[in-house]
Amino acid sequence: MLSRAVRAVRGLAAAAPAPSCPGEASSRMTATRRLAPAASELGGEQHRRHRSTASSPTDSQGPPKILITGSLGQLGLEMARFLRRVYGQDSVLMSDIIKASRDVAEEGPYIFADILDFKGLQEIVVTHRVDWIIHFSALLSAVGEQNVPLAVRVNIEGVHNVIELAKQYKLRLFVPSTIGSFGPDSPRNPTPNVTVQRPRTIYGVSKVHAELLGEYYHHRFGLDFRCLRFPGVISSDPPGGGTTDYAVFMFYEALRTGRFECYLRPDTRLPMMHISDCLRSLWEFMTAPTDRLHRRVYNVTAMSFTPEELAGELRKYVPELEVTYRPDSRQLIADSWPQVFDDSEARADWGWRHQCNLSQLVETMVQEVGAQVKREKPADN
Ligand SMILES: NC(=O)c1ccc[n+]([C@@H]2O[C@H](COP(=O)([O-])OP(=O)(O)OC[C@H]3O[C@@H](n4cnc5c(N)ncnc54)[C@H](O)[C@@H]3O)[C@@H](O)[C@H]2O)c1
Repeated sequence: MLSRAVRAVRGLAAAAPAPSCPGEASSRMTATRRLAPAASELGGEQHRRHRSTASSPTDSQGPPKILITGSLGQLGLEMARFLRRVYGQDSVLMSDIIKASRDVAEEGPYIFADILDFKGLQEIVVTHRVDWIIHFSALLSAVGEQNVPLAVRVNIEGVHNVIELAKQYKLRLFVPSTIGSFGPDSPRNPTPNVTVQRPRTIYGVSKVHAELLGEYYHHRFGLDFRCLRFPGVISSDPPGGGTTDYAVFMFYEALRTGRFECYLRPDTRLPMMHISDCLRSLWEFMTAPTDRLHRRVYNVTAMSFTPEELAGELRKYVPELEVTYRPDSRQLIADSWPQVFDDSEARADWGWRHQCNLSQLVETMVQEVGAQVKREKPADN
């Protein structure tokens, strides 16, 4: 399903260091600015989190065994690296239906897992003694609209499979949701945790379905279901076909050619976060003590910006950047999504704090994408 070019760039990305956010983030994290701490380096609250996690989800002692589905996508590979730093290389089992690059295969365990094959998933959970599933397999908003039957299967049937599996084997289950789970009837600025949703894309419909089914299984069967609604996630890895992808493309085109044609209007405001915040939010939420969670589904975000504002910040590094605007069908999707996401409940309940703001995000992306673009050059000549 992924183009050869996308896979090739993902192969390059595999060799890159883990993403990090400079400035405030680096002072809060270790001096070496790494994205995830090693377990031995965790201190205070984080150490307690790690210890309680290690013993809580199942009967197993030691770190949890974590299966990531759809792990070769934009979020999966970096999530695997993050969790391997915390829990050890063999604690994280990456899986997908596409072939991993040699680099990824050498980083730790990687297996084939089709989210539509329930028996195959059962075999993996039993054989590898899985404790947590992080369920990333999905067709994103723009791709989903192009193949609705497949999106229904992967995004809805796939969730049925992992939820049933997690119930049968008493696993902790994380399923990401999105700002795309809201629609034109939702309040857009700000969009609170609980409000009207009624999305208009199959992606959004499937995510509301996952949220509600997960909450139902939690209340009915005690399933430890956890779900964060992410905004657009920005990283130097190629995105998977969502509406917020323009932000990543802008960095690549700015640094390759100095020109970018944007498929959204210049004033389209959308919530966003850097991948370092996204991964950390997921891990902090997964390890949050149950009594801190007043809900099973939380909004999280870091900032909101428009293409025009992003271009303005990027011109500090690429002053000659020219951006033109030609809105396409993704504009309709963006117009029905939140502009400013209210994540105050996550902040109050389990202590969510973002670390990367717009200027830090741009600085980091310029460094990371700049390094990728440099590596592409010999192949082009
Ligand atoms: N990236 C974002 O900005 C963002 C924002 C909000 C929520 N999310 C959610 O986070 C999750 C991961 O997003 P991403 O950006 O990494 O997506 P992505 O499109 O980059 O990756 C999805 C992966 O799912 C895999 N997949 C497809 N069909 C499959 C099947 N039948 N069985 C197993 N795997 C299959 C694909 O091969 C791909 O590697 C998704 O659920 C997405 O909805 C992402």
